[in-house]
Amino acid sequence: MGILQSAPESCMRIKQASLALLLLGAAGLAGLAPAGLARAQGDVVAQRQAGLKRMSGNLEAIKKTLEAKGDLSLVAERSQDMVTFFQGFPALFPPGSDTGDTHARPAVWSDRAEFQAAAGRMVAAASKLHEAAASGDADATATAFREAGGTCGACHRAFRAR
Ligand code: HEC
Repeated sequence: MGILQSAPESCMRIKQASLALLLLGAAGLAGLAPAGLARAQGDVVAQRQAGLKRMSGNLEAIKKTLEAKGDLSLVAERSQDMVTFFQGFPALFPPGSDTGDTHARPAVWSDRAEFQAAAGRMVAAASKLHEAAASGDADATATAFREAGGTCGACHRAFRAR
């Protein structure tokens, strides 16, 4: 008799306990979300800025190599890093990452199609530079390098604040 009575009772207690845990879990998540989200967005701003600094470093290294008539395989390597970085570029500007220590203009989010197109033109320009360098053609590499530099500037005029 004792067993028959206590079985449904303990069953109820387990249900209540798991409901309480569920509610606690939900409250915990809700409490953490804003801080966690802000941190994630700070990270993505720092991440894209660090990547862009690396891109500047790539351009500098390429410029020096071309001026010194150096090894084009270095140019091929650096420009490949640019291709890969700019392929993933729009994803580094998720919704909500328009605040804080960013110099991105609101147009990055409000004119998304054009921003993505500008990133696509950068991928194309960096690919062209990579192919020219990989083929060993110094003149074509120099031309593609100037074009790539212009492509950085074109996006900055539209999407980067001073
Ligand atoms: C598709 C658009 C786009 C292209 C292409 C682009 N940039 Fe930018 N760049 C931006 C935006 C937007 C910012 C501002 C980012 C921020 O502060 O969140 C920026 C910022 C920068 C910064 C400042 C980073 C910092 O520390 O704050 C550097 C350096 C930079 N870009 C270099 C380059 C170079 C070099 C290229 C070409 C190889 C390039 N960018 C191509 C959009 C672009």
